[in-house]
Amino acid sequence: MPGKWKVEDITIGATMETTFWPNPVKHSEFRYRATHLDGKRAPKVVLCDDKRIRQGVPCMVRVVALHKPDRPDRGMIEVEFVHSLSLKLEGIYIDPVVSRKLQILLESGLNILLDGPQGCGKTVLARAIADSLGMRFVFFNCSSVIEATDFLATIQVRASDSGQPITDFVKTDFLHALEEANLEENQTQPYLLFLDEFNRCQESARNALMPALDTTRQIFNPVTNSFITIPDNVQFIAAVNRGNEFSGTFGIDAAQLDRFAPLQMDYLPPKEEIKLLAGRHPEIGPKMLQTIVHIADRIRHTPELGAGLSVRATEEVCVYLKHPLMQDNQRRMLPEVLQSSFCGRFAGRWNDVSSDAGAVWAIVQDALREADTAQKKKNAASS
Ligand SMILES: Nc1ncnc2c1ncn2[C@@H]1O[C@H](COP(=O)(O)OP(=O)(O)OP(=O)(O)O)[C@@H](O)[C@H]1O
Ligand SMILES: [Mg+2]
Repeated sequence: MPGKWKVEDITIGATMETTFWPNPVKHSEFRYRATHLDGKRAPKVVLCDDKRIRQGVPCMVRVVALHKPDRPDRGMIEVEFVHSLSLKLEGIYIDPVVSRKLQILLESGLNILLDGPQGCGKTVLARAIADSLGMRFVFFNCSSVIEATDFLATIQVRASDSGQPITDFVKTDFLHALEEANLEENQTQPYLLFLDEFNRCQESARNALMPALDTTRQIFNPVTNSFITIPDNVQFIAAVNRGNEFSGTFGIDAAQLDRFAPLQMDYLPPKEEIKLLAGRHPEIGPKMLQTIVHIADRIRHTPELGAGLSVRATEEVCVYLKHPLMQDNQRRMLPEVLQSSFCGRFAGRWNDVSSDAGAVWAIVQDALREADTAQKKKNAASS
């Protein structure tokens, strides 16, 4: 919608769509500036200072004041932030209710805890959020954390010129990101600090993060021996995987949990998984994809099994079957492939009926038999 608004077209109280970028004017009381309203050029710059604004992400604003309306060369339109427009996450399926909650949490800057079975898309979701919202993505795997200080620095020992051992602190990406985010010139650059496998680090180490996650917004920096501030432009998202097998290791205590807004995730609905795989592996026909995902879905809905079955597993089956070495015999090769890609992800052996892998193999065989019978019936009916 090209064109330009006149000053008299802009009414106080009107709600309009716009997209903000950092205000290039240094030391302005408004951090964000926009040039368009509802797709047309605004008669004056549009300014706002709300920290919920994400640069480059369209949002709705309400006009609060028109400053210097009669001066063509000066003035501004002051607006207040209403809400961001829907999150658009490229290539990711997210449950619509979870998506809405996620958007609200991101706008409010609360720490988010993604809780879902293995391979349900927690990590790709966090990356997609960062991409979509123009945030700098910082990945930090908590399973390597043993001491509280490991979040920010690791100690490395090296030999000095005299051969004496010297210990150095090596900053982690977590600390680099905090230092960067604290710089004056980065105040409008949002950072997404992703704490993966949050439940896998030592409880005592996790406690060190508590003041970073509450209103204190500080964490002890072992390199400078002082506390470093967690600025407002840093958003934490943590991920935990509490599959059945790992329920014993989900040791996050109530106080730690309480510092996050938990969001439960699950595997994609079969229809969406088929769509996702069809997009990534067009060489596999729709019927075959349906069979693969249907079997995975059955396995995922068998509560006795110790773990979930990741989308990586269904992808792996596609990778095998589309390869020229298998492409001509996809149907015949399928059981073999499922033996390794599905059964192989569970404890025990596919041919040991008392093990999880054996139970998965039984599900696979049942499902393949049913699919064959259904196909034979269909063929008979059409002949
Ligand atoms: N909802 C989804 N949308 C798009 N891709 C998905 C989704 N769920 C899973 N995948 C795909 O499955 C694979 C695994 O996803 P990801 O690594 O994000 O899972 P995770 O939940 O972080 O797993 P883990 O618990 O093992 O860390 C990726 O290839 C990803 O693209
Ligand atoms: Mg992950």
